[in-house]
Amino acid sequence: MEYTLTGLLPAALLIDLPEIDVQHEEIFRRIEALKRASFGTGPVSFEECHDLLDYLEWHFASEESVARERGVDFADHARVHDQNLHMLRRALAAVHDGSQDVHSFLRYAEYWFERHIAEEDKPFADRLRNRAA
Ligand SMILES: [Fe+2]
Repeated sequence: MEYTLTGLLPAALLIDLPEIDVQHEEIFRRIEALKRASFGTGPVSFEECHDLLDYLEWHFASEESVARERGVDFADHARVHDQNLHMLRRALAAVHDGSQDVHSFLRYAEYWFERHIAEEDKPFADRLRNRAA
């Protein structure tokens, strides 16, 4: 299958697994779109924020299935995914009840995700490559 990147991801955040890189790019694209909307005139769509988290959940499951297919242990990484998803859903609930603003939620999501790619996904991609070698 062909995976086409749009250039939104800086080279430093590419993990060289095309199917995962396009998903990472899509997550940043969604966060960017929500950030733009949050500085606009209308209210940010909660539905799109929930869609972002649903997509993130699907993306985590897809990383997990890549690991399973290639026989790479993913237990610690999956735990990090679960914890983060839980934190992000809590943060979004706080936006709903008015105790946190949507900008904080989006900054948190973006910061966490960027750090996660650098600190967890890149080593994961290296383990996959080492196993294949
Ligand atoms: Fe991950």
